[in-house]
Amino acid sequence: ISFRFDFWNQRDLPYDDEQIGLKDQIVINFSHVVAENTPKGLAASKFAELINEKSNGNMIVHIYPNGILYNDKNELAALKDGDIQMIAPTFSKLTEELPSWQVLDLPFLFENNEQVYEVLHGPLSEQLLKELESIHIHGLTFWHNGFKQMAAKNGPLLETSDFIGLTMRSMPSKVLIKQTQLLHAEPIVTSFNDLYASIQNDTIASQENTISNIYSKGYYRMHPHITQSNHGILAYSVLMNEDFWNSLTKQQQQIITESINELQRWQHDEAVKLNAENLQQLQRSGQAQLYTLTEAQRNEWKEVLQPIYQYYERQISKNYLKQLREELS
Ligand code: LMR
Repeated sequence: ISFRFDFWNQRDLPYDDEQIGLKDQIVINFSHVVAENTPKGLAASKFAELINEKSNGNMIVHIYPNGILYNDKNELAALKDGDIQMIAPTFSKLTEELPSWQVLDLPFLFENNEQVYEVLHGPLSEQLLKELESIHIHGLTFWHNGFKQMAAKNGPLLETSDFIGLTMRSMPSKVLIKQTQLLHAEPIVTSFNDLYASIQNDTIASQENTISNIYSKGYYRMHPHITQSNHGILAYSVLMNEDFWNSLTKQQQQIITESINELQRWQHDEAVKLNAENLQQLQRSGQAQLYTLTEAQRNEWKEVLQPIYQYYERQISKNYLKQLREELS
């Protein structure tokens, strides 16, 4: 039983938790690293809205954006320890624990956003989410951000020789590091939160990221040469602390599952729309130069990166790559 202080009569009164609706109130703290007006930021807000609506305010989602609570380096540990109930890291950031997830990091497999939607909500992704059980995390779904582009400080990255000797930011995924090495650039693994400072102090001369991330964090001001290479994808795994999930009633779990399902198509379309809008804003800013690859240049990138598929198959899994190729065909 809890008490509240009755100021008028200067005495403690027992709280009627039931009556004020607090007894069963569930709070989901959701931490993420990007800005609010981004595919992940918007999806998190919409998720919070749906949960609140469907539970009549009995379930509440508190969102902590921009890495203010946890960042890339500690959010997974915080989730596992139950310090936070929900995170949505880029899948590449799970690959140290779940190497097979690198299948989604492989370049030049996806050709358009619709294919990404099909795969992120298809059988392969279901298997990937199931793998989370082995590290005691409850996987809810994948959310899209967009295709990755190459941004650089000193000039456009068009020919593969443009990459030679460049410092390039990488997420902690062996496939992404390998990709950088195959281009003869120097990979530097950096968290999203440290990226701005590393670009500013010249430790990092180039990076691959989505237009939404490049725009919303202002990276284009320091890396203004942006090649629209669409060579890889950036998407999020939406994760919940397993004990927390198990502590919920069936009805509460259902509210979460329904909200996630309702959000699925909207989230994807919103991500595509936002990246397109941000691209226009970049063009209008006059502070970025956008480039596209000629077919010959694109083929050259593909050729240089060819050994990466074998690397994945040999080191990690033949089956997942085969399955992904089947789902894409
Ligand atoms: C990055 O580190 O560049 C991205 O994973 C950030 C994000 O969450 O979109």
